[in-house]
Amino acid sequence: MISGRGSNMKAILENTELGTLKGICKVEAILSNKKDAKGLEIARNFGVQPIVIESKGKKRKTYNSLLLEYLQKLNPDYIILAGYMKIISPEIIEEFSNRIINIHPADTDLHQGLHGYEWAFENSLKSTKITVHYVDEGLDTGIVIGKREVDLSDCETLAEVEKKGLKIEHQFYSECLRKIFNR
Ligand code: GAR
Repeated sequence: MISGRGSNMKAILENTELGTLKGICKVEAILSNKKDAKGLEIARNFGVQPIVIESKGKKRKTYNSLLLEYLQKLNPDYIILAGYMKIISPEIIEEFSNRIINIHPADTDLHQGLHGYEWAFENSLKSTKITVHYVDEGLDTGIVIGKREVDLSDCETLAEVEKKGLKIEHQFYSECLRKIFNR
């Protein structure tokens, strides 16, 4: 599930075709809550027709029940959040308990919510961590699957921090998924 750029989704699709996830899993569907998400075009280029369930302009309850209905029909083994920027409703979490996974661009013990790289940059951190975790009802409070350090000692701008972090995200997410799917 995505909301925007889709670079983590792209890395997962690539790794499913050729990399660490080859023969391990299949991307059944790509879902966006935004009709103009950049990642939609990437999905199409990989031969996956993405589904859009637009959240904008809908009451939260209406959006969440449409999403739940779609997910129940699809019934995926796992739901992978890749830059999906909405809170998952308690009903969806209950239905797919321990089957929803997220990547967070910070150490979830130290920073929750949005703007993980901005937080690292503004606090002049010499290193930060990427966290892959199960999603529970809290904000970035679910059980941690893995954390990976990112050295920021040579980064002078926010763009550099983000570039370095994303490079690690793209490898590390698939490594964590491989570990889970191989169990
Ligand atoms: C990534 O940095 C991801 O870790 C972060 O959003 C970015 C999405 O980029 N996710 C969160 O902040 C979730 N709280 P992408 O669309 O290029 O994968």
